[in-house]
Amino acid sequence: MGQVRVFSHPLIQHKLTILRDAATGHKEFRELVEEIAMLMAFEATGDLPVQAVEVTTPVGPARGSTIAGQELAVVPILRAGLAMEAGVLRLMPTARVGHIGIYRDPATLEPHTYYCKLPPDVGSRQVLVVDPMLATGGSAVESITLLRRHGARTIRLMVLIAAPEGIRRLHAAHPDVAVYTAAVDDHLNDHGYIVPGLGDAGDRLYGTR
Ligand code: PRP
Ligand code: URA
Repeated sequence: MGQVRVFSHPLIQHKLTILRDAATGHKEFRELVEEIAMLMAFEATGDLPVQAVEVTTPVGPARGSTIAGQELAVVPILRAGLAMEAGVLRLMPTARVGHIGIYRDPATLEPHTYYCKLPPDVGSRQVLVVDPMLATGGSAVESITLLRRHGARTIRLMVLIAAPEGIRRLHAAHPDVAVYTAAVDDHLNDHGYIVPGLGDAGDRLYGTR
């Protein structure tokens, strides 16, 4: 079975709780998604390989380390992933960014892809797919299948809230993709929404409902 890591840092959980609150308006919601994504990216990159380097301070030589190995590509799933992209880029501003546009048909809950633009060297980068919600898993599976078709090999998925159903579907299709999340919620309701979740992430981010 694939790997799932739940980030339980108190700051992440504090902000996630405010995010879930139906009384939180879209401006604060957007800011919180960005902040949580930045904190999660910090946690998620704790195992990056480093290389020893030496620099010269105004006082003399100093040994240090810089990040080595594969470079990162961040791939938000539109629309809601855009707010997470902003948070990840605050931490890693030189990462390349790809965009995948997918919406979920409200009746069938099946994903529909309408846009895909990826860095040409995506195959040699560590890919971090970001989307606040992993519900049925359809959108995540579709986007990772698309990434693989474009040559991506090392792929991780970072979400704010995951449903057990979505984790199962993702790992049935892509067992090697690790899932990073701030919470694994209870179940999906009859409309495919995560319970308790936070509602419709895109609508809450952009005030479209
Ligand atoms: C939401 C969310 C995910 C998807 C999750 O996007 O941001 O992409 O639903 O659901 P799934 O796991 O069942 O596929 P939505 O389809 O509402 O599109 P939007 O961001 O454009 O509003
Ligand atoms: N998409 C959302 O935005 N929220 C859910 O709970 C499920 C899918």
